[in-house]
Amino acid sequence: MSWLITGGAGYIGAHVVRAMTAGGEDVVVYDDLSTGSADRVPSGVPLVVGSVLDGELLERTIREHGVTGVVHIAARKQVGESVERPLYYYRENVTGLQTLLDAMTATGVDRVVFSSSAAVYGMPDVDLVTEDTPCLPMSPYGETKLVGEWLIAAAARAHGLRAVSLRYFNVAGAAAPELADTGVFNLVPMVFERLEEGEAPRIFGDDYATPDGTCVRDYIHVQDIASAHQAAAVRLREAPAGTSLVLNIGRGEGSSVREMVDRILKTTGHEDVVPEVTPRRPGDPARVVAAADRIRAELGWSARFGLDDMIESAWGGWRHRHPRD
Ligand SMILES: NC(=O)c1ccc[n+]([C@@H]2O[C@H](COP(=O)([O-])OP(=O)(O)OC[C@H]3O[C@@H](n4cnc5c(N)ncnc54)[C@H](O)[C@@H]3O)[C@@H](O)[C@H]2O)c1
Repeated sequence: MSWLITGGAGYIGAHVVRAMTAGGEDVVVYDDLSTGSADRVPSGVPLVVGSVLDGELLERTIREHGVTGVVHIAARKQVGESVERPLYYYRENVTGLQTLLDAMTATGVDRVVFSSSAAVYGMPDVDLVTEDTPCLPMSPYGETKLVGEWLIAAAARAHGLRAVSLRYFNVAGAAAPELADTGVFNLVPMVFERLEEGEAPRIFGDDYATPDGTCVRDYIHVQDIASAHQAAAVRLREAPAGTSLVLNIGRGEGSSVREMVDRILKTTGHEDVVPEVTPRRPGDPARVVAAADRIRAELGWSARFGLDDMIESAWGGWRHRHPRD
């Protein structure tokens, strides 16, 4: 098959491109380079620069490259920004997806893998979040991902699409230093940034109802995220029309913020630094950990990498971009 990978020049997309080409798939990257970078696209992989809001360019690209399936990763992803700019987030994430689905149905492309997020769950009050846990997103960003899943499920029913929506939990790590996350929106790069500035990393609240009082999350290596996409692509090859799966991608293991910060301090040689505990951030749930059984059953996939792999590889990426004098 030949896969159009939207957002393939971004952090996660660049890893998916590599996993899928390694799995023998033909790929073409489609990206507006708003937060992505052309040098993340491997040589030999075509890059079309354009927005998913441009239906004409999407249709032309699909026809010219003989595309038979789409991995839709492109999106805006900052929770705080989405609260301030909901119309922009709905346009980019929801209208963008709708434009893409229009282009797919117009050209007869009927397989899609969609980047969703654990943000669809909001503040789940359960030990392990299954795909049947009620979704109550807390931000416009989370809403756009949930609406995206609904749109895809409806299109699968109406137009015979075959679809997998993957709900990523907390992504970290890199396959190579130059592929690392360049944003500072997640815990691991946020701690690196504080250390770089000579500041103690912050822990937002240590009075949650968790074993050490800090929030618990399910961290997953970006290479595991990427291999799950390849497994989804394989699954969709034989899937009957109308197939629509929603799957968590997590390790099914919770790690507290304090545990992660301590590991990061150890890995980066900052054992002497004492984290600063500040008040809770509004909207942070105490615990969000995936049940990872359904993806194992449906795709035969499970995570291979652990926390130290994530932290060490992310640190390699950080040092690559912030070399010491
Ligand atoms: N990073 C995480 O922790 C995380 C967690 C859950 C879900 N996700 C989802 O994973 C996906 C990728 O996230 P990422 O961390 O790699 O972010 P990223 O910003 O590095 O990648 C997004 C890519 O999409 C491109 N893009 C954005 N809007 C576009 C548009 N309108 N048209 C074409 N290209 C466009 C950007 O240029 C970039 O290359 C997003 O859908 C995000 O919501 C990420």
